Amino acid sequence: MAQCEVRAIPPFLLSGKDSGMQEEAEGLLDSVELARAKALPPAAGIAFLAGRLAQRRLAAELLSLPAADLTVAYSCPQCGTGPGVGHGRPGYSYRGAPVPLALSLSRAAGWTLLVAVVDASPGTRLGADIEDPSRTGFDGFDGLALTPAERRNLRNVRVELLPAARARLWARKEAWLKMTGDGLRTAPSTVDVSGRPGLRDLGPAETGLPAHLAAAVALSGPVQASGSGGSGSS
Ligand SMILES: CC(C)(COP(=O)(O)OP(=O)(O)OC[C@H]1O[C@@H](n2cnc3c(N)ncnc32)[C@H](O)[C@@H]1OP(=O)(O)O)[C@@H](O)C(=O)NCCC(=O)NCCS
Repeated sequence: MAQCEVRAIPPFLLSGKDSGMQEEAEGLLDSVELARAKALPPAAGIAFLAGRLAQRRLAAELLSLPAADLTVAYSCPQCGTGPGVGHGRPGYSYRGAPVPLALSLSRAAGWTLLVAVVDASPGTRLGADIEDPSRTGFDGFDGLALTPAERRNLRNVRVELLPAARARLWARKEAWLKMTGDGLRTAPSTVDVSGRPGLRDLGPAETGLPAHLAAAVALSGPVQASGSGGSGSS
């Protein structure tokens, strides 16, 4: 049975290391990725490149292929798929053929979470998300993000535990909506995330993320989970 690989990449430290990383990115990433980074503010561009480098290296390692030989083959619900598409659902091709790997990436609080399913059958879909509880405290979050049933359930949660509970729900929603490929084109307040098959929380022991960050993964088919956790190790 295919296995779910889980890796957490710690915050990239800007001080003095960004120039080396830029060089590495220029050697390994595709032009569509470099162009996306260039269009972002500098710090966001660096975080983007660091995540894409880590994702490509993980894909290459799992497929036993040279990282430089992979070509991005993302799928966007609006723009479609192909080598020129560098946004949407992650994917790679090798010598013109899609590689048998389902991938998902999420960034929060400087961390990057990567989840992969090796030898994925063509229909396998995967979504993963991390969320920082401090980002869920704004007025209107519940109305924007939660279903009426989820809002009712939160009434029973102690006030000091609310940020963590909201972050857990949000991570599940985004993991689910990445798995379907719709992302936030589907209103999260219409997606109840309790008891959905293939959707589960990821704990810090499995991911290697700090315990305060919420994380979740959604898989479209039955796949055995075996998180390796830690900072880029397996
Ligand atoms: C998916 C989405 C919810 C993630 O947003 P987020 O929480 O801000 O960001 P995260 O760090 O958790 O995840 C970002 C990753 O999600 C993945 N992703 C983006 N869109 C995706 C989609 N439609 N399906 C699956 N995964 C997707 C990418 O791997 C992206 O990484 P990248 O920045 O290296 O490209 C959001 O990007 C979204 O709703 N996208 C779809 C909107 C859309 O279709 N727009 C049309 C664009 S032309």
